[in-house]
Amino acid sequence: MKVLVIGGGGREHALVWKIAQSPLVTKIYCAPGNPGTAKLAVNIPIKVEEIDKLLGFAKSEGIDLAVVGPELPLSLGIVDLFREYGVKIFGPSRAAARIEASKAFSKDLMKKYSIPTAAYGVFTEITEAEAFIKQTGAPIVIKADGLAAGKGVVIAQTEKEAVSAVKDMLSGNAFGDAGSRVVVEEFLTGEEASFLAITDGRHIIPLASAQDHKAIFDNDQGPNTGGMGAYSPAPVVTSDIHQKAMEQVVQRAVDGMAAEGCPYQGILYAGLMIKDGEVKTLEFNARFGDPECQPLLMRMKSDLLPLLIAVADKNLAGHSIEWNDQAAVCVVMAAKGYPGDYPKGDIITGIEVASKLDGVTVFHAGTSEKDGQIITAGGRVLGVTGLGNGVVDAIKKAYTGVDKISWRGVQYRKDIGKKALQRI
Ligand code: AMP
Ligand code: GLY
Repeated sequence: MKVLVIGGGGREHALVWKIAQSPLVTKIYCAPGNPGTAKLAVNIPIKVEEIDKLLGFAKSEGIDLAVVGPELPLSLGIVDLFREYGVKIFGPSRAAARIEASKAFSKDLMKKYSIPTAAYGVFTEITEAEAFIKQTGAPIVIKADGLAAGKGVVIAQTEKEAVSAVKDMLSGNAFGDAGSRVVVEEFLTGEEASFLAITDGRHIIPLASAQDHKAIFDNDQGPNTGGMGAYSPAPVVTSDIHQKAMEQVVQRAVDGMAAEGCPYQGILYAGLMIKDGEVKTLEFNARFGDPECQPLLMRMKSDLLPLLIAVADKNLAGHSIEWNDQAAVCVVMAAKGYPGDYPKGDIITGIEVASKLDGVTVFHAGTSEKDGQIITAGGRVLGVTGLGNGVVDAIKKAYTGVDKISWRGVQYRKDIGKKALQRI
């Protein structure tokens, strides 16, 4: 089979790495890919939002399955387009991807189908939002309705800050069109977990549990990022929490989407807040998490490809997923200044040495190649992932890899996996 993976981050390197292990594969392409995917696939210089060009490539190359990594092409309708032209593709339709692309849609779905979540309001007018903020009090959470590259969420500590965030968004200054509607919601406390499942719209298989580290600095300090590290399994997801997440969140969402006339096919990612044995849903994503994908796929024993095909064919019944008992920990190495502005073009050393370590895999994210050297080209640059006998060993492996790699101004968290340690 010829497979096309769409995207160029750490998640897509992990997808290519895993798909390359399938005996069903003959050739993998990745668009646009990165220097990491280039070792396992043929990189094609087409951007993820150029969905017509991607279709043209898939048709001319006779691609048997396209796999979409990021949310942007999903929200642009790449799945609908490929299906229209008879090219098999893994991911939700444009209508189904609204579960991530519109926070108002997502919250309304949760409300309608009794999926536990924070109390909220959806606003286009500042005066109404202001009244809701006054009534709820601070801290309070303001979210741009549309896609904002993980940056559209403001946790306001005061009512004044909340009102000013709403004004910024509604005026279009903060996130353009994505902020023309806002969700204002109750602030939740607890411990977060990433609960992912694969579904064909009817049948659901949960993936192993995982936990992300959203804040830039150790001990969850500083602004939120796309994710600074992740590990699997996440002991905060006990068997009781797992059951609640499946019954109250994932099953209701999948059934709800089908009832709404937009059945969901793909990876459904529920961001959960767990407190006192109960789960609440912070958000849904229409794709694998990045960096959660890296540790999850390192632990997946089953061949991923038949699962992706089964979802595209609406034929997931009878499939199952086997997991390695080991733990996996991914530490994201980022450029100086991220999640704000950051420099590009710094030469990275040590990737080869780190990659040769036992149990260590280095996934590329924001990297590029110049004159035979790997240089930084994004905010999140590498995801150094360790597989070990238990989380302590996996943490050790990941950081042994991290220690071998450097560039000017590199930053990373030193406490990835620490929350798991507190539970063992
Ligand atoms: P979201 O993209 O909606 O998941 O928001 C990004 C991050 O903001 C989450 O991972 C949480 O850390 C935080 N967050 C979002 N909504 C809430 C909430 N209602 N209460 C507390 N934290 C939140
Ligand atoms: N790591 C969080 C996300 O992929 O949205």
